[in-house]
Amino acid sequence: MTSPAPALVFDGVTVRYEVDASPAVDNVTFSLAAGERAALVGLNGSGKTTILLAAVGLVPYEGDIRVCGTPVSRRTAAEVRDRVGFLFNLPDDQLLFPKVIEDVAFGLLRRGFDRTEAYRKAVLALDSLGVGALAEWPLQHLSHGQKQRVALAGAMITDPPLLLLDEPSASLDPPGRRALAGILGRLDAAMLIATHDLDFGRRLCRRLILLEGGKVANDGEDLSTIQRLWEME
Ligand SMILES: Nc1ncnc2c1ncn2[C@@H]1O[C@H](COP(=O)(O)OP(=O)(O)O)[C@@H](O)[C@H]1O
Ligand SMILES: [Mg+2]
Repeated sequence: MTSPAPALVFDGVTVRYEVDASPAVDNVTFSLAAGERAALVGLNGSGKTTILLAAVGLVPYEGDIRVCGTPVSRRTAAEVRDRVGFLFNLPDDQLLFPKVIEDVAFGLLRRGFDRTEAYRKAVLALDSLGVGALAEWPLQHLSHGQKQRVALAGAMITDPPLLLLDEPSASLDPPGRRALAGILGRLDAAMLIATHDLDFGRRLCRRLILLEGGKVANDGEDLSTIQRLWEME
């Protein structure tokens, strides 16, 4: 049996937002195996969000990016996004429908599931995150933590092999952070978790990919480089 393709491969990837600007992501190379979790850590502006966006074809890049073996390009972007659950930094950026259940079920309806089945699965996904009771609620009545769980339910509903999470613990209180780490830790998907919350990253991942100025400064389980950087401020 052949082993599955890595969930995510970056090979010499560079992203520039402006032609003459210095790169936001500079010659980045790493690979995430199927089911593997890694935290993408770094200070503000180090390139974490840009890496996640590049992985789903939302910013142009030089180099090679593959999701589950498929090269990411404008042509393959739709196919790639079908394999990825993406959690934006701010849930309001990805919640589109007035009611919770509509939002969570959307990924399944888009794939041709009938409404009854899609809603049934959406309630199960919400239940698994402890927010099944919110299914009929209007989104604007939810707290930030509740919105984030709803957004995560929507990202997970199609069972994607890769989750890209942008600062998932930001704006959560400590119990909320612990609960989210527990939920994510039980999923089988590969995950790249962009965070400047080192405790949260460590709770879920042994592997830490440290970015400094768009470059990978360290990749592994060793914390010392990161701690030096964190203490520099
Ligand atoms: N839309 C944009 N246009 C121009 N520059 C951007 C844009 N988004 C991010 N940048 C720049 O790219 C660099 C990396 O940003 P980002 O990926 O958001 O970092 P992080 O998520 O680690 O805070 C920063 O210098 C930031 O100012
Ligand atoms: Mg960011």
